[in-house]
Amino acid sequence: MSDQSLTIALSKGRIFEETLPLLAAAGIVPAEEPEKSRKLIIGTNHDNIRLVIVRATDVPTYVQYGAADFGIAGKDVLIEHGGDGLYQPLDLQIAQCRMMVAVRKGFDYAAASQPGSRLRIATKYPDIAAEHFAAKGVHVDIIKLYGSMELAPLVGLSDAIVDLVSTGNTLKANDLEAVEHIVDISSRLVVNKAALKTKHALIEPIIRAFAGVVQAEGA
Ligand code: ATP
Ligand code: PRP
Repeated sequence: MSDQSLTIALSKGRIFEETLPLLAAAGIVPAEEPEKSRKLIIGTNHDNIRLVIVRATDVPTYVQYGAADFGIAGKDVLIEHGGDGLYQPLDLQIAQCRMMVAVRKGFDYAAASQPGSRLRIATKYPDIAAEHFAAKGVHVDIIKLYGSMELAPLVGLSDAIVDLVSTGNTLKANDLEAVEHIVDISSRLVVNKAALKTKHALIEPIIRAFAGVVQAEGA
């Protein structure tokens, strides 16, 4: 697309739902609902603004390489991806949850996580998990999973998991308990650094509109 156009990378599901009011505040209305469409490029009420629908974990990659001018990604995804080529001007305070360590109920985590001990950790977030346990002086074998982390301790794949917790319902339904808080998570606006300069006149009012919503909701 030309310098007068904008491409916005979003993921389906909770981020898309929670982004709609932000887009509306910036006067942007998607032409279709991604949940009901197989289309990956969705137009908007502006001829020069389009949405691309990607996996949540792929948003930073599209923005980093300039295939999208900006996008919205969870802090979890951004920590794992690293910040190369990305400007992160705004915490949107959406998709809020916590990165936690969780274990089977009854597992003696305090004893098992003494400095110098060794734990098997199943997670979708190997860098976050490795850094957390390194700081505690605990050795870990990281088992990378792509979803349903809660299953791992139940079937003996791991001693603990590092995963996101919001309501706690998933842990409860699987007889697990959170034993350590690692970091609070919410979603951020991520902007391609070059686009921020070359398309400043287009991007800046959108950032301002998003910031207005965040401020109003926090008030
Ligand atoms: P992918 O499709 O790439 O595997 P995903 O299935 O994790 O990603 P979503 O479940 O839509 O994608 O999560 C998108 C973002 O929402 C996450 O990166 C995280 O920041 C946040 N998130 C995940 N789970 C929750 C939750 N239970 N409550 C609130 N926010 C959450
Ligand atoms: C996320 C996370 C937990 C769950 C926590 O999974 O991985 O499993 O939400 O939320 P809760 O504390 O409110 O139960 P998600 O719903 O994204 O499913 P996924 O396995 O497809 O990532």
